[in-house]
Amino acid sequence: MRDPILYEFENYVYAQGRDLGDEVPVTRPLFSADSLRVALAELREILRRDQENLSPGRLRGPVADGIRSFARQWFQRLDFPEHGISTTSDRSWPVPSDEGGVNTLGRNLTSEEACLLRPWPKWMYIRPLLPDLRGKSIMEIGSNNGFFPVRFAELGAARVTGVEVQKRKFESAVWANSVLGWRNIEFRHSDFLVDFTIEPHDVVFVSEVVNHLLCPMWAIARLVSLAREMLLLDTGVFDTTRHGLELSTGWSRDAQNLRFLNFQISDGLLCSYLKLFGIRNEDIVKYVETGAGHILYMIDTRKMHERRANGDLPDNELRRSLLLDFKFPDK
Ligand SMILES: C[S@@+](CC[C@H](N)C(=O)[O-])C[C@H]1O[C@@H](n2cnc3c(N)ncnc32)[C@H](O)[C@@H]1O
Repeated sequence: MRDPILYEFENYVYAQGRDLGDEVPVTRPLFSADSLRVALAELREILRRDQENLSPGRLRGPVADGIRSFARQWFQRLDFPEHGISTTSDRSWPVPSDEGGVNTLGRNLTSEEACLLRPWPKWMYIRPLLPDLRGKSIMEIGSNNGFFPVRFAELGAARVTGVEVQKRKFESAVWANSVLGWRNIEFRHSDFLVDFTIEPHDVVFVSEVVNHLLCPMWAIARLVSLAREMLLLDTGVFDTTRHGLELSTGWSRDAQNLRFLNFQISDGLLCSYLKLFGIRNEDIVKYVETGAGHILYMIDTRKMHERRANGDLPDNELRRSLLLDFKFPDK
């Protein structure tokens, strides 16, 4: 990688591989020692209750049959408290366990615990950081089995949309909500990268999606354009102000089949890229999980929309580039 440089010319400054200024967004820890202790106690209590409720009778009936019809599709744990059952009540229902990632809360939970609870551990750090959702519209991109849309509805959001590209995952979310009964949640089976009928929402939430996409930079641009007030971007990054984008891939042993891909963007590149749209460092708060290569960005998009509406942009040509025709605020 080339060393970052800054050249001053007569009428402009050239910045290569780094941001122009030295100011950085406000940075906070993703969870404190105290909040972690409380979260772990709550999560272990869920696991303890699971053991208590373990009885074969609970695995029978229409809700159990519904969960079973999506066996191996449950990446997320959905709970149906009125029926005393969850999508992990039978170990053959969830997707096979993996190492648990951010749901281990810094390896304070085992991989098995993290996978049985997922994404409740993630919710423990997200919930206290959310803006007041009452009366707001909120959209999750990559809503999977529908865990987060249900949480947002519980917090009083007026309208909740979940967008999911995998058909069975989308169908599992629709089915789960047919049991839970939230009428203000709409699930859409769609690809947000190319579906221009998806409307902006007040808040857009996206967790661990962007880095798994073929076009992560386009995804970020698209997400920004869909967020009227705030984008909550929870993603793997490497924590340096230098610009970098690194690709990791998982292959079958014969190197023929791609199993997964992961683009790790650097924090510096992400913040500089956001600046191209009119988002400044002062609009961003970063919640960092130290040493984990993981940051939750809380990006206030309101001033960006004003700046764009006023034509107050680094490059006016970017206003309509790639059809990202930002339409609000109404002027
Ligand atoms: C790793 S999962 C994360 C799920 C959830 N956000 C969580 O944190 O538990 C990523 C999800 O994003 C979905 N996804 C990936 N690309 C998408 C796209 N272009 N449009 C909509 N959903 C997408 C995947 O199908 C998957 O359900």
